[in-house]
Amino acid sequence: MATPAEPPDTAAPGFTDVEGFADVPENPFVGPMPADFLWGVATSAHQVDGHTVGNDWSRFEAQPGVIAEGAVSGPAADHWNRLEDDTALIRDLGANAHRLSLEWSRLEPEPGRWDAAAWEHAELELALLEQAGIAPMLTLLHFTLPLWLADRGGIAAPEFPRRLERFANEAARRLAGRVRLWCTVNEPNVQMVFGYVTGQWPPCRRDPELAARAFAGLLKGHALAAAAVRRHRPDARIGAAVHLVLAEPLRSWWPPDHLAAAQVRRGFNWPFYDAVRDGVIRLRLPGFPRLEEPMAELLGSADFVGINYYRRNLVAFDPRSPGWASLHQGPGLRSDAGVEMHPAGLLQLLRQAWRRYRLPLIVTENGVADASGQLRPTYLRVHAHGLARAVAEGIPVQGYFHWSLLDNFEWTDGYTLRFGLYRVDFPSQRRIATPGVAEFRRLAALLRDAAARPAGLTSR
Ligand code: FCB
Repeated sequence: MATPAEPPDTAAPGFTDVEGFADVPENPFVGPMPADFLWGVATSAHQVDGHTVGNDWSRFEAQPGVIAEGAVSGPAADHWNRLEDDTALIRDLGANAHRLSLEWSRLEPEPGRWDAAAWEHAELELALLEQAGIAPMLTLLHFTLPLWLADRGGIAAPEFPRRLERFANEAARRLAGRVRLWCTVNEPNVQMVFGYVTGQWPPCRRDPELAARAFAGLLKGHALAAAAVRRHRPDARIGAAVHLVLAEPLRSWWPPDHLAAAQVRRGFNWPFYDAVRDGVIRLRLPGFPRLEEPMAELLGSADFVGINYYRRNLVAFDPRSPGWASLHQGPGLRSDAGVEMHPAGLLQLLRQAWRRYRLPLIVTENGVADASGQLRPTYLRVHAHGLARAVAEGIPVQGYFHWSLLDNFEWTDGYTLRFGLYRVDFPSQRRIATPGVAEFRRLAALLRDAAARPAGLTSR
């Protein structure tokens, strides 16, 4: 089969020009919004804290040629030393919530040894948020693993689920008084694919057998961790953040492309939460060992579906590509990462996830690599419109976390991509508001109005 052509660039007017997103009003909250809607920013410890030395990423980064421009996380955004100032930045955004993660390697530097000072630091960060009136969502595992655990086989090791459970138990024992919202694992589907299928991320394996074990390990770890948190905080609200792509056929007239797109959805988007819904860890993908493992603890382990939304993929059937599917970009405006911005996809994925799971939804990440700072305001507004439309359809969307507060260490892209509402000037570490800050604040105020609006009224 001939290589499918990229859609022509001539039809690239912008990223609002699709499916009702062409004309997003200045106030995107077209109807009433839930009173307690979470409006926040997201970060992860390894990407912002800096000075993290005991995890698998810090070891990986030290290898030549693996990170763009030879960068290492190093001081990152030095958030570790700037808690007060950065908390003030979050407050100034008008945010009422902040998603952050724990750095396991600092808190448990050796198996079973808890580092008192590191836990105090976590408590301090949460206390500052509390004083600022900002609700934390705490992620237990955002990709990085303590070296000692990585060396025993990481997420694919048989002991991994129990290790995560113990870590969750300790975190909840110490912190659950201040934290009601928990995210067990971040993007388990990405961690499995990059770590064990493509091999771009630690532990850099390409091994379907291990990939299946890693997938099962993350699910079991999630279920055990959720139960541990609930023991300390029965009213906790717990979920995981999955990376969802909007997968659509490249050629709508060509049935094999439909099948290929469905395969991407089935293989990448849904396996994690399907297992939570069914209480069965299932993997049925060509080239992978079949898994069919019941685990009762998965049932009821999540109170919400966490959705990280960044991209749509146009999928073509292509027997020369892995999984017989090749991924293509649509014609819309692209971010600095070369990723097409497609706000309509957020609404579509919210609909799909709601139909599939009937659980409340929280957008745990959404953002854009935009060094100019010029794209982000519109990006924010049109994605907020997607949230509002989902709410208007009766879909229980309960929050939105923008990625990210600050420019930070963007994994193998190092410091070449800038996702921050606040630009960080490296190495001075000065925080500089991008135009996204004013827009985020404006939207926060509009959201408050929309939350106070009686049901039945719309803004236009
Ligand atoms: C997501 C990751 C997050 C960040 C953003 C840009 O996939 O969860 O850590 O890298 O992408």
